[in-house]
Amino acid sequence: MEWHNARALMEWQLEMGVNETILNAPIDRYALDPSPIKAAKKETATPVIIPKVDPVAIAKKLAEPANSLEELRSAMEAFDHCELKFGARNLVFSDGNSKAPVMIVGEAPGREEDQQGKPFVGRAGQMLDKMFAAISLDRGAQEAEKSVYITNVLPWRPSQNRDPKPDEIAMMWPFLQKHISLVNPSVVIAMGNISCQALLGEKGITKLRGRVRQRHNLDILPMVHPANLLRNPSAKKHAWADLLTLKVRLEQI
Ligand code: URA
Repeated sequence: MEWHNARALMEWQLEMGVNETILNAPIDRYALDPSPIKAAKKETATPVIIPKVDPVAIAKKLAEPANSLEELRSAMEAFDHCELKFGARNLVFSDGNSKAPVMIVGEAPGREEDQQGKPFVGRAGQMLDKMFAAISLDRGAQEAEKSVYITNVLPWRPSQNRDPKPDEIAMMWPFLQKHISLVNPSVVIAMGNISCQALLGEKGITKLRGRVRQRHNLDILPMVHPANLLRNPSAKKHAWADLLTLKVRLEQI
């Protein structure tokens, strides 16, 4: 069976509530002859020495020489130390206008993003587009001033849309840092908690949102994630206030 089909079937079973695998008839494993297991253990007793690698150092080495977004993308494609890569269909790099003054950094791709290879194209993405349209910004705009550039902390979808792990965020940080320096935006939007964790080293979006902070020589504005607004529409008033803060900031630049 083709790998992606097998994975999709397994994911479907998980979504249906399968959390255990059992056989049609019980097996009394105490009654089984243990000798083959013992023999197998003996054979594999020789210790296997796995050389230790530092994924963060490897990521830095790959990201450092990239002088363009294309080179950065190739460097990320060559990085094999994030296990999410092997469960994803596509590397989700970016969308929008790389000359835009606003760079939005989301969390990680979901199912639709993984399928299309573009960030924020599912329901949360539609909400994100509506949010920025409210201050006349559009990722599809030709004019840089009217556009936005979008990427994520992680370029590969975590299975079951689980939260990215701290070690995954740490190993992809050198790529994100290089990504931001190549785009050189006036304002970076830290979209949601995971993005705040990566960009500011802090969590707690309700406390952090709405105030521009200087970190890594960047102006960073934390905002409530659009997926959060879908679950909790009453938070839209905060999003609106934060968009106005961004609008004023852009007018000052
Ligand atoms: N949520 C994100 O944070 N990023 C995406 O690309 C999609 C959903």
